Amino acid sequence: MSAALPRRRVAVLISGRGSNMTSLLAATKDPAFPAEIALVLSNRPDAPGLATARENGVATVAIDHKQHASREDFERVMQEALVAHNIELVCLAGFMRILTPWFVERWTGRMINIHPALLPLYKGLHTHERALADGVKLHGASVHFVVPGMDEGPIIAQAAVPVLDGDTPGTLGARVLAQEHVIYPLALRLLASGRLTVDGARVRTAGEAGETSALVAPQLA
Ligand code: GAR
Repeated sequence: MSAALPRRRVAVLISGRGSNMTSLLAATKDPAFPAEIALVLSNRPDAPGLATARENGVATVAIDHKQHASREDFERVMQEALVAHNIELVCLAGFMRILTPWFVERWTGRMINIHPALLPLYKGLHTHERALADGVKLHGASVHFVVPGMDEGPIIAQAAVPVLDGDTPGTLGARVLAQEHVIYPLALRLLASGRLTVDGARVRTAGEAGETSALVAPQLA
């Protein structure tokens, strides 16, 4: 039997409830998963996800951005915490602070984000409201590498869901969130195991199945 490869040390950055963080924690409980959550960091000391992380025995750090005079000051303290915990990869999971190029460039190719829309559609906030207002029939979620532009960067994984006639932002958002919890662990697994190659805007995945079936909406009863 070959020795297991060391698992990559991941920090998850959150601002709120942390359901994506919880999905990553669940995936990393499998000893065969190529990464472990070594730190959960929040810019909000009251983020409910911090308690969940602690209950799971994960180190947590709260760095209140309001206690720092500038974005750069705040990020410098974050960077120190990441270095102190020997972090190799960063997952943004509902981390609601815009990051400066100074910070982003320190983590090029090693920091990923989840966004509740099929990028490059609906960057920014209120994605479910905007998808409903536009009348799209498919909506979804994306995981992408972080670059200085907000919600830009090469896309690693996406999941599409149908928009149903009776949807509200709440019901649509819940359908998207369930898929976020599927694609974020998938994207981290691919990144941590070295299976991703960035080629311009495209990310190629070693071992892609080449499946070509389509999701069509509406489906008739
Ligand atoms: C998720 O839906 C995530 O995609 C979104 O915030 C939510 C966080 O939920 N992120 C963004 O909008 C970033 N642009 P969670 O705390 O339960 O993971």
